[in-house]
Amino acid sequence: MLISSPTSGVLIPIPQYPLYTATLAQHNGRPIPYYLDESKGWATSVHEIELALEQAHKVGTVPKALVIINPGNPTGALLDEETMIQLVHICEKYSLVLLADEVYQNNLHKREQFPFTSFKKVVRKLDSHVALVSFHSISKGVSGECGRRGGYFECTNISEPVVSLIYKMVSVGLCPPLSGQIGVDTMVRPPKEGEESYALWRKETDATHAALAQRTNVMAERLNTLPGITCVDSPGALYLFPKITLSQKAQDAAREAGKEPDVFYSLALLDATGICVVPGSGFGQKADEWHYRLTCLCPGVEEYVGQLETFHQGWVEKYGV
Ligand SMILES: Cc1ncc(COP(=O)(O)O)c(C=O)c1O
Repeated sequence: MLISSPTSGVLIPIPQYPLYTATLAQHNGRPIPYYLDESKGWATSVHEIELALEQAHKVGTVPKALVIINPGNPTGALLDEETMIQLVHICEKYSLVLLADEVYQNNLHKREQFPFTSFKKVVRKLDSHVALVSFHSISKGVSGECGRRGGYFECTNISEPVVSLIYKMVSVGLCPPLSGQIGVDTMVRPPKEGEESYALWRKETDATHAALAQRTNVMAERLNTLPGITCVDSPGALYLFPKITLSQKAQDAAREAGKEPDVFYSLALLDATGICVVPGSGFGQKADEWHYRLTCLCPGVEEYVGQLETFHQGWVEKYGV
């Protein structure tokens, strides 16, 4: 509905979850990329968003919405409340719909130090009129695994006629499968303290979150000791997005093989170890920078980090840093 003409654009963070640009392409809209700041833990910068808006105006793109992924995929970054307030103000200033992708809101590795705040809370606190759509999903490691799909979006400050139209459009799909509906119900109404299943639910949920946090921590710490790799220790989501320096020799070998350098590295890693990472070029990154995305879902972190280290050392011996 936001993409009302081929000049309509949506601000998308880079690196991004690639289904956003894919969906925009499908609906004939334009992505307006804005860069996250890796040097500040993949922070979202209002300045970068304003630069992207200026660029969009120059090419005749009409900005309609701002996508924020919090916690981030692939970066794992988490917004603080101060930044969220600034982002709501940006949406007010430029009449943008705020699309708050909060599907990783329960995947927090350092809850005390880095808590999650929803955009709905911030919008309400500011008494803002910004139109907000918040997304949540069951597939992020606890209520459901990746094969179990279910989720919702919630509309705040969106007028009744528009909500009616959304209902009409969504109703074309009849209803989601029963398993997805049950999954969403268990996510939004978890057992309460004092109920029979509370203790087991708490124990299993906490154990899953603790394991994800521990693996993320081990991976970030060990990756940061490798030559030519720097890795932001992410406070949330299910990912790390380390930066890899690839020597000219490695870049030349990649080009000769007809591959992007980070794709070349990732395929070599897969061949050598069976570990499948996603090259940074799949998510977008600054020119001449290389990354890959690792997930913390897999148990056995000591073993696979060991394999990553051995592979990388061999790579450095062959191609240099
Ligand atoms: C940032 C982000 N948003 C949305 C989704 C979609 O989640 P689901 O397929 O569970 O609806 C994903 C899934 O990986 C994601 O990473």
